[in-house]
Order: sequence, then structure tokens, then C-alpha cells
Amino acid sequence: MQNLTAVITGVGKALPDRRVTNADLEQMVETSDEWISKRVGIKERRMVADGEWTSHLAARAAKDALAMSGLAADALDLIIVSTTTPDTLYPSVSCLVQREIGAARAGAMDVAAACTGFIYAMGTAWAMIRSGLMKHVMVIAAEVVTSSLDWTDRDTCVLFGDGAGAVVLSAAEGGGAGILSMRLQADGNYADILKLPNSGSRAFPEYAGRFIKMQGNDVFKHAVRDMTECATDALAAAGLTIGDVSLVIPHQANIRIIDAIATRLGVPPEKVFINIEKYGNTSSATIPIALCEAVEQGRLKPGDVFIIDAFGAGLTWGAMAIRWK
Ligand code: ACO
Repeated sequence: MQNLTAVITGVGKALPDRRVTNADLEQMVETSDEWISKRVGIKERRMVADGEWTSHLAARAAKDALAMSGLAADALDLIIVSTTTPDTLYPSVSCLVQREIGAARAGAMDVAAACTGFIYAMGTAWAMIRSGLMKHVMVIAAEVVTSSLDWTDRDTCVLFGDGAGAVVLSAAEGGGAGILSMRLQADGNYADILKLPNSGSRAFPEYAGRFIKMQGNDVFKHAVRDMTECATDALAAAGLTIGDVSLVIPHQANIRIIDAIATRLGVPPEKVFINIEKYGNTSSATIPIALCEAVEQGRLKPGDVFIIDAFGAGLTWGAMAIRWK
């Protein structure tokens, strides 16, 4: 087998126009801008308009990423969409994107690994490219989390928002830029601490509706421990240390989780990308949105190593070390 890897050749993002500020939420539940800002780090989040679905955000982000890559849509071999808030379970969001962008040759599938889904999707794409089976794969994470929120539950409704991010991965010779290593992990023993009841074939009569249920403190502790370990393992697998890393792009769930991980990893604040204040937790979309903004802001230079690191329901968690082209 050739020594192949996958290099990021395009990034894109899509955010709904509508902003929901902490002041807006103060009108809906017993909360305050001060509590949300201090405890979570969010000032506002985006929310889809009527008639705007996950596939719309996904297709917009995909078009952006494709334009940056310079590829024609029919060069794509596969489209993978990470989402746990699809328009419908089938057709998949990836098929709707395939139609919208005109990727005539591409296969299409959705993956569901909650907030870690983008890293699972990237890992799948990397394996396809590394094996020589495929040359160009579009990886998208798109979420309309506001469709799963109970707007009377202050424990959850202040935390989340909607958005999408995308990357194009293309085959390249290993040993240079591209994906260097990956860790994917899960522990279903903690399935109960973060869940979306009534979202599938099982009925949960004890819960009214289809709303996120979360044991916030438990999730917080697991996130800090598991994301720290996973990032460390991904670096070791790439033969690198934290000193080699120019930027950490963590899942944006809570500013205190991000700060705790940065402290444990020994990374200074200027090497951690944070945009949670603008968008809240867009589930699996936080990392590709953040990556896109890091590129727009010139935070990644050719040859820089960066880490993506996520955690979510399942429980699932994962990390990748990547060298920017
Ligand atoms: N506004 C004001 N007060 C609030 C709010 C709110 N929105 N929410 C909770 N409180 C109150 C609580 O009722 C509690 O009051 P009490 O002391 O009188 O009982 C107090 O604030 C403290 O509550 P805690 O739950 O202990 O607050 P904590 O500091 O743990 O923060 C939070 C809660 C933000 C949820 C935190 O635990 C967290 O971020 N957890 C991780 C969340 C996360 O990562 N989710 C990932 C989802 S990923 C996916 O796959 C969907």
C-alpha cells in the first residue's frame, strides 16, 4: 500500500442569521446573562428560521468548502454528514447535500456520534483515503440542536445553537501535511447521563416530548477527563508532544471545560481556539465551524500542527492531530 494520508483542502461554514441573545433567554426562563456568561461562556447563539433545515446549513457549508478546495463537485467520492438532528432519518442529510451540490459520483451517508460525530466522520474519511479506495471526501457536521430543546428547561436551553461546518479531504503523500493520528473512543455504560428520549424506535413515556436530558455535572467531569486523555493519546500516536502543537480546537460545550482541558494539557490560552460566546454548543458542528474561523483569522500557518478534540453523548469522545497544508 502507498503511504497515503488525507489533507484538508477546503473549509466552510454556515450559520443561521437569527441571533438569540442571553437577554432573549431571560424573557423565557429564570436565568441571567451573568449566569450563562460566567458558568458557560455563551453570549448568543444562532437559530434556524422557519423552513430552514439541517440540510440547508450542510449544503451551504459544503459549497464554501468545495469553493476553497477548487474541486468540481463531481470529483467527490463520498459525502459524510455528522448529525443527530437530521431533517429526517431518511433520506439522509448527506443525500440531500449530494443532490444540492451536484456531486454526481459521490456516495453519501450520515453518522451519529453526538458531539463527537465530526471526528468519527473525519476518521472514516481518513480510512477511505488512506486505504487508496477514495481520493476526495466531503466531511460535514450540521446540526439544528434547537429542534431538540425544551424552552422551559433552563438547564439545557441556554447551552445550544444551530450551525454547520465542512471540510474537503483529499489524498496526499504521507509524511507531510494532513491527518497524522486519531483516537476514537466510547463508553455506553454512561448512556444515561446525556440522552435524547423519544427520538427513535423506543418510547419513553416518563419523558414528555423529544428533548435533550443531561446530568450536567457528570457530563462536565467526563468531558474534562476524557478529552484531556484523548488529546494526549492522539499526540503520542503521532510521535508529538504538546509543545509541537500550534492550536487546540476543542468542542465548544462550556468555556470552563475548555479552560480545564487547556490547563491539564499545559497549553497557553493563546493556543486554544474559542468561539463559544458567539454560537453556543452546536453539537458536532462546533469543531468544523471553529476550524473554518481559525483559517479565516490566519491562526493556522503552513506546517502548523493542530488538535481537534471532542466529547459527546454515548458517551463518545475522540481526537485527531493534523498538520495544516
Ligand atoms: N440559569 C440560572 N441558573 C441555572 C441555570 C440557568 N440557565 N441552569 C442551572 N442553574 C442553577 C441550578 O439550578 C443550580 O441552582 P441551585 O444551586 O440553587 O441548585 C445552580 O445553577 C448550579 O447548577 P449546576 O448544575 O451545579 O451548575 P454547573 O456549574 O454544573 O453548570 C452546566 C451547569 C453549564 C450544564 C455544566 O454542568 C456543563 O456545562 N456541563 C456539561 C454540558 C455539556 O458539555 N454538554 C455537552 C452536550 S454534548 C451533546 O452530545 C449534546
